Order: sequence, then structure tokens, then C-alpha cells
Amino acid sequence: MDLSKEELKNAHDTMEMWEEDVLTRYPEPKEKAKEDFRNYDDPARDTVREFYKMNHIYQTYDFVRSKEDQYLSLTKKEMTLWDAVEFLNTLVDDSDPDTDLDQTQHLLQTSEAIRADGHPDWFVLTGFLHDLGKVLCLYGEPQWAVVGDTFPVGCKHSDKIVYSEYFSDNPDSTHEIYSDKMGIYSENCGLDNVHMSWGHDEYIYHIMKDYLPEEGLYMLRYHSFYSQHREKAYDHLMNKHDHKLFEWVDKFNQYDLYSKAATPPDVKALRPYYEDLASKFLPDILKF
Ligand SMILES: [Fe+2]
Ligand SMILES: [Fe+2]
Repeated sequence: MDLSKEELKNAHDTMEMWEEDVLTRYPEPKEKAKEDFRNYDDPARDTVREFYKMNHIYQTYDFVRSKEDQYLSLTKKEMTLWDAVEFLNTLVDDSDPDTDLDQTQHLLQTSEAIRADGHPDWFVLTGFLHDLGKVLCLYGEPQWAVVGDTFPVGCKHSDKIVYSEYFSDNPDSTHEIYSDKMGIYSENCGLDNVHMSWGHDEYIYHIMKDYLPEEGLYMLRYHSFYSQHREKAYDHLMNKHDHKLFEWVDKFNQYDLYSKAATPPDVKALRPYYEDLASKFLPDILKF
């Protein structure tokens, strides 16, 4: 499905908006929280709020299961890594002079910051891959089903999730089982048994599942699960193994959030390095 220019621009703007909002909520420790965060009269906040509202209302357990059925067989598309990178980049909004970064640059800034700190190559590659699941948007998925904070479904929504008040209009919040603290899960059952709200994290995890070390897979799968990273809202579902691996997720998140460099990375110059790195871990053709 081909999106119109306007649809591409909307999708792009929503992604930027959500990512900026995450940064406002979780500023780099050395920076002060932006003062406008609590300014609810700001019209820009209305768009943010509307986005979370849709996300919170429509991400039901049944919705998630239907998206898992639709996408996780990975029969949608076959692409080389660079095809996927370029496909995602069709989201670039070239009419907007404010656009600071295209998608490839965000991926490269993240991965280059990881590389500069001397981390292992699978970690660098994970940084480069982490947002490729956003191609969901280009299949025509609504933005609230591509980006946004992720959270478990099939159990009670934590009030630590941003704008959690909007869950009151989500049918699961009055469902006999799904509104229970444990819901369909058992205590400390482990996140692998938990269904997360649908978005780019779960999708890219499945695409890469057979190729990266588990630490990298956790980074891909849980990088937008802020209510756990920052608020520890779902310890009751996590097991010891999850906690251990979340140390890596936390490590990764610093790079995802705070790696915007003053000079954009040189995509052309870096491409051979990343193609090489990819060939070490990934098949030539990836199934999406
Ligand atoms: Fe992401
Ligand atoms: Fe990202």
C-alpha cells in the first residue's frame, strides 16, 4: 500500500512528536526537564495527548493478538537490510525545513554512539536495526500501532504509564480478567510469556529473533517499555532472567534517547561498515 505524501508526513511527524515527548519526560540527567511539560494549554500538547489517547484506547489484548497473527509469520516482504533502511526512509519529510534527522540518521547516530564507546559489534548492529520495525507505518498501520510507549496487555494497565487515565476507555480495563493485576499471567512468569502492546519493537524483535544474541533481542523488543525502564511498573511479571537482561536494555536506551550528534553521520561513508557487520550476523535477505 502506497501512502500519500500527506500520510507520510503525518506518520513522520507523529514519530518525531512521540520521541520528543519521551525526551521531555526523561531528559538526559544533566539537562533540566523542559518547563512546558506541565503546560497542558499548549496546543502542541493536544496532539501528544490525542496520540496517547488513541494508543491507550485501541491497544486491547484482542487487537494485539490480531496484529501478531497478521505480521509475525513474516510473510509481508523480503528485503535486504539496505532495502529496509531505504524503505523506512521514505518517511522522511523533505518539505519540512525543521526536520532534523531522517530515520537512517537516527539509526546511525544510535549505533555510532554505541561503537564509539567500544561496545561489542552485535550491540552496534542492534543499535542500527532497532527502529526498522517502523516500516509498519508504511504498510498503512496507524501511528498509535507503530510507535508509543509499549505495555503488557491481558492484565491491568499500570497507572505509571504515561496518560494512563485514557485507559478507562479501553474495553480491557473493565474486562473481568484483563483488568486484574495478573490478568492472564502468573506472578513472575517472565516477559517472554507476556503480550506487549503492538508496535515497532515487537515486530523487529521477531524479524531478528534468530540472528542476534539475547541481550540484543531484549533491546529490540523492550526499548519503548518506559513504564518498566523508568518506573518499574511491571516487576510482578518479570523473572530474574528478565531483570538481568534489562541491564542491557537500560544501557541501550541511553543511546537511543541521548545520541543526537551535532554533525549528522555520513550515511554513504558508513554504509560499507554496516553492510559488513550485517553480513556477519544476518542473512542477505531478511523476512519482514
Ligand atoms: Fe524505537
Ligand atoms: Fe530509536
